Amino acid sequence: MNNLFSPINLSGLELPNRIFMPPLTRSRGPNDAATEQVALYYTQRATAGLIVSEGSPISQEGQGYFYNPGIFTPEQIAGWRLVTDSVHSVGGHMFVQLWHVGRISHTSIQANGGAPVSSTDKAADNAMAFGRDDNGNIGFVPSSKPRALETEEIARVVGDFVQAARNAMEAGFDGVELHAANGYLFDQFLNPFINDRTDRYSAKTVEGRLRFTLEVVDAVGAEIGMNRIGIRLTPYGVIGSVPMFDDTEETFVALGKALGDRGIAYFHVMDQTGFFNTPEGQKPTSDAIKELLIKWRSVAPNTAIFLDGGMTKAKAEELILNGVIDMAGFGQAYIANPDLVARFRNNWPLNPADRATYYTGGAKGYIDYSPYRVPAPAHA
Ligand SMILES: Cc1cc2nc3c(=O)[nH]c(=O)nc-3n(C[C@H](O)[C@H](O)[C@H](O)COP(=O)(O)O)c2cc1C
Repeated sequence: MNNLFSPINLSGLELPNRIFMPPLTRSRGPNDAATEQVALYYTQRATAGLIVSEGSPISQEGQGYFYNPGIFTPEQIAGWRLVTDSVHSVGGHMFVQLWHVGRISHTSIQANGGAPVSSTDKAADNAMAFGRDDNGNIGFVPSSKPRALETEEIARVVGDFVQAARNAMEAGFDGVELHAANGYLFDQFLNPFINDRTDRYSAKTVEGRLRFTLEVVDAVGAEIGMNRIGIRLTPYGVIGSVPMFDDTEETFVALGKALGDRGIAYFHVMDQTGFFNTPEGQKPTSDAIKELLIKWRSVAPNTAIFLDGGMTKAKAEELILNGVIDMAGFGQAYIANPDLVARFRNNWPLNPADRATYYTGGAKGYIDYSPYRVPAPAHA
């Protein structure tokens, strides 16, 4: 019987427990590169069975927010090397989340002020990028209208993912997680209400919807090995201007089978049901997600399943015990509790996270959350 503290072999990587730190954008890379401060932040949290880094842009085109540490320049690779060396030196394990935001970007972030790219030329309503406004000030700005990628151009984007995966290996990561969730580029191909293409990537068929994702997985897998790839997906997701669609289950079961057949390491789902950014009136349901995870088990029995989003210790224990998931993730709890594993193990209380400092930059709310201090015994 497995519990939160049982070790797990993740496609050849021995992890000491089933608690993972999910990707958390923290905007602490002043030059879009990781620093020693970023290395300290992750190292403080390295008792997690696995850390998945914050989203790391694979190219300037793939960036939607300033101050995200990317993985496409030599300086960025060197920045991440500081992080992985430090995390590994204390026995931690770390994947990098490879990120292309597609249409959730802004002309001020793109080369020569160009349009962001997507499967479509429709803008993402209500989805904000973090760029420069008309006065040159940095802050949240509405996503710009994208241009639809030409059919022949898509191979170039696939190539950017391959280069980023190569860079990730050079930077010392144990693997890569493709960010195919939350309304970013992969979702823009997977979702039939966004993808309005008429070429072979058309969303009219499930095969067409999945084509871009599978091309990236095949190309990255050929470069670094399928066992070093995880993928983040948000079936029933609505964050990032993603409309719900009827054949969600059919689409994601087909994707799960195709990925399972290829031998990737894991599926990672974010349950958005209770998340603070989820648009009101459009909450997905945790039950539908759970049913899908059970279907993935039958079509992809060798692929590990990660789940996060409103996770509690009790829920994680139950889902792991029942074999529904293999690893449980705690996002905001990890922001505030660097020693989360020890806190769960000892039933110590959790620090609350300060939402005001999630993206502000600097040490406050980043590296200053203390581990739990066991109260000193009272003197007689
Ligand atoms: C500050 C913040 C930044 C986030 N950044 C990312 C990100 O870069 N990539 C991603 O896939 N999810 C991101 N997420 C979603 C988290 O990975 C996680 O799914 C979410 O926090 C729900 O888990 P929780 O309820 O335990 O916090 C972010 C969430 C927060 C709060």
